[in-house]
Amino acid sequence: MTLEEIKAIEAKVLLPTYERNPLLFVRGEGVHLIDEKGERYLDLLSGIGVNALGYGHPAIEKAIVEQSEKLIHISNLFFHEGQAELALRLTKMSGLDRAFFCNSGTEAMEAALKLARAHAGLLRSEGRTIGTKVLALENSFHGRTMGSVAATHKAKYREPFDPVMPGVGFVKFDDVADLQAKFSTDVCAVLIEAIQGEGGIRPVSREFIAVARELTQSVGALLICDEIQAGLGRTGKWFAYQHYDVRPDVATIAKPLAGGLPLGAMVCTEEAARAIHPGMHGTTFGGGPLACAVAVAVIDTIEREHLLDHVTDVGTYFHGKLNLLAEKHPAIVDVRGMGLMLAAELDSAELAKQVAAEMLERRVLINRTSETVLRFLPPFILGKNDVDEAIDALDSILTAHAPQAAGATSTGGKQIG
Ligand SMILES: Cc1ncc(COP(=O)(O)O)c(C=O)c1O
Repeated sequence: MTLEEIKAIEAKVLLPTYERNPLLFVRGEGVHLIDEKGERYLDLLSGIGVNALGYGHPAIEKAIVEQSEKLIHISNLFFHEGQAELALRLTKMSGLDRAFFCNSGTEAMEAALKLARAHAGLLRSEGRTIGTKVLALENSFHGRTMGSVAATHKAKYREPFDPVMPGVGFVKFDDVADLQAKFSTDVCAVLIEAIQGEGGIRPVSREFIAVARELTQSVGALLICDEIQAGLGRTGKWFAYQHYDVRPDVATIAKPLAGGLPLGAMVCTEEAARAIHPGMHGTTFGGGPLACAVAVAVIDTIEREHLLDHVTDVGTYFHGKLNLLAEKHPAIVDVRGMGLMLAAELDSAELAKQVAAEMLERRVLINRTSETVLRFLPPFILGKNDVDEAIDALDSILTAHAPQAAGATSTGGKQIG
């Protein structure tokens, strides 16, 4: 089928949840995607932070082939090797004690929310004073199901589906005083993305996380770190909260975990896990043999190829190049992020939209989030030469859009720095 044919069919028979870019990809190689005409695109989005090892990585292919020849699905009513192996790795990497496997980020968040409510119930049964309220942050994004969407700040995601899960309050982003004012013994959980993803690649401060840790601990509420976008190495550490020297009660992960297969996980402390007993929560597909085998291969590959150090190195280089670009182009009002979770904020939403579209025309995939923010979530295997290519494209586009360049020609992407 051609792109036009697919578009026509989808327009008729798909629920219109996405406005897709007019591109038809047929395969990928390393950090590149290849369309049906054979054109190569540098992918700085990696399936929204999923394809950490890029495309066609032999370790992923090997794990898929070997495991699919043995066992793909067995249900959670029986043992297989994968969950134990993966849980051992995740608990060691996270500093937490127990794992629960599911299929997506939003499901990991549902598990975390249910755990928080169940844990508070357990504490109440033991005579403690603790309520059922959840505090999340303004501009947060935690998913699309009824619990996680209730904790997602933007009204456009929540309001059409009201009533969503009740009992969620929002704290101003990184505002310690607001957190202190809104926190009480009514609260059973505080949800934090250490670096907000959809909210525009915004890291919270050390002070904010430290105060959230102190307040939650004071009443027995759970500090839940949503690591679905930032976790598993994207910031140069396994978990973004590890930059903050804090141990949450719960961490949620998904996106890159199984190299592109659907897999999510919630990892938690022994104390929080006391609240869960057989039958209380579950999933048919979560933690299946195939997804777990691939996840183990992904983690082993990140270790074997020293990709955490690589992410830090290339991320620092990328960040530096973006800073230089910001010195040259006043339209860039801020550069943020850690590792390979980076953003350049522009001074107008219209310009950001235009730049993202023109990057695509130049065969570099990025996306825009929070209206004005150009977001970069490339595969961990990105090279510095790839960064140079992207920066040159961005430089040319911004030069062409600079007010003094109206009607003038672009510099053609003169090397920055
Ligand atoms: C921080 C964060 N939490 C939760 C989610 C939801 O994950 P999923 O789309 O896998 O349900 C996302 C997805 O973008 C995310 O970035």
